Amino acid sequence: MNKIYCVGVGPGDPELLTLKAHKLIRNASQIAYFRKRNSTGRARKTIEKTLQKKKVYEYPMEYPLTTEVDFQTDEYKKTLDDFYIKCCAEIKFLLEKDDLIIISEGDPLFYGSFVHLYEKLKKDTPVIFVPGITAMSGSWTNAKIPIAMGDASISIIMGIQDEKDIIKSLKSSQTAVIMKIGTHLKKVASALKKTNNFNRAIIVEKATMIDEKIIPLKNYNEKRAPYFSIILIPYETQK
Ligand SMILES: C[S@@+](CC[C@H](N)C(=O)[O-])C[C@H]1O[C@@H](n2cnc3c(N)ncnc32)[C@H](O)[C@@H]1O
Repeated sequence: MNKIYCVGVGPGDPELLTLKAHKLIRNASQIAYFRKRNSTGRARKTIEKTLQKKKVYEYPMEYPLTTEVDFQTDEYKKTLDDFYIKCCAEIKFLLEKDDLIIISEGDPLFYGSFVHLYEKLKKDTPVIFVPGITAMSGSWTNAKIPIAMGDASISIIMGIQDEKDIIKSLKSSQTAVIMKIGTHLKKVASALKKTNNFNRAIIVEKATMIDEKIIPLKNYNEKRAPYFSIILIPYETQK
């Protein structure tokens, strides 16, 4: 039976692929990936050179929506669920021909979208995961920050959470990473100020990509952050 290989392609730098990912992508006859409407897709861009000019069938799974509908509404959940059902049907069709390589930004099991499909496919479809370097790892590596040391605990926080939940997580550990910031920047900054973390926070835009930026948050003058951005609350400069 043909298999799905769900392969992490790392945070953006094409040289941060694992050897295993590289080999699977090079030998693929068909690949699939998520992308926003009217975009190439970050994972797809990352493997551009790895694919070379080889003829590979590509199945882009295009999100029907992103931020235009509130993610807590029934409309959002229903639209995405219908989309995932459609993707699973197409994936099963492709698997009748050969193995399918599904590429995923960072590590597929760390907030990766494929997990929604995996829940629906795992009963009767063989899936093999290949881990990838996460965005947070790429971020703290390029910022040269030891994010956790000794006995410090770390919180991984989503910027889309309510401010009170962000504050609670910030208070419960010595170091933190905040992802999915985008339009939530103001709320995240307010939570960081209320917990005395603002002055040591660092924002990393597009970690490991050619247009990467690493800026102390207190010097960041944007009203919103790009989708590919992350805030690091380092351990070194404890409050
Ligand atoms: C759906 S999660 C995917 C995480 C990914 N699977 C990983 O292992 O890092 C998307 C969030 O990851 C972060 N992210 C992904 N790639 C990034 C990059 N190159 N630089 C900064 N943040 C990134 C952003 O916070 C973004 O909102």
